[in-house]
Amino acid sequence: MFVDVHSHVVPSGDDGVGSVEEGLALCRDAHAHGTSLLFATPHVWPQLPLTEDREEEIRRAYAEMAPVAAEAGLDLRLGFELTPAPALLEEDLTRFTLGALPAVLMELPFAGPLDLSQRVAEEIEARGLTPVIAHPERADRVIDDPEIAAGYAERGWLLQVNATSLLEYHGEAPFDTGWLLVERGLADLVASDGHRPARPPLLDDAHAAVRRRIGERGDALFNGAALGRLASVAERV
Ligand SMILES: [Fe+2]
Repeated sequence: MFVDVHSHVVPSGDDGVGSVEEGLALCRDAHAHGTSLLFATPHVWPQLPLTEDREEEIRRAYAEMAPVAAEAGLDLRLGFELTPAPALLEEDLTRFTLGALPAVLMELPFAGPLDLSQRVAEEIEARGLTPVIAHPERADRVIDDPEIAAGYAERGWLLQVNATSLLEYHGEAPFDTGWLLVERGLADLVASDGHRPARPPLLDDAHAAVRRRIGERGDALFNGAALGRLASVAERV
């Protein structure tokens, strides 16, 4: 059974699902394709911050969805996906954790420098939390120089590769870089980043592809092993 740490299945006013019903349909689909634990991670964008009102609405939708998902066999949890922005450096970053885990999901910009991203990740760390770097293989800077991602991994930041990158949905460069991170053992997690029915939160095809390339050791990328280590460090199993 798969653990998926990144998806947009709870409606939040971003480019993910537009309704609870649509989100629940994706949850059922995810479960039918082998996912047992799914984090919904609404975007926190510079132009769409997590205001109190927005957070309340998101939590209300989540509270409505979680019991229905549970009945369908899916453990649905709530986190967020941060897009680096200067305003985040002034925020209490503990409000963005992945459920009860001592970790925060943060994406890298597709283009442009990574200085701000690194500062936000360092702030996450300063709060005693582990940054989970979303889809580094889609960032131009990492594509040009994968050693940047190796440096993050060395610092103990978790690297989350998109299932869709490994299936060439985002083009050739993220495909090549995603596989490089997987094959070098730098990736910690493969997640769906599922947004909508046309881009659903599924991991089974990527899992099969990873099995073919690196065998059973690839299973750790899909069963949440890296998150389990965080949970045991924090004694929050
Ligand atoms: Fe995302």
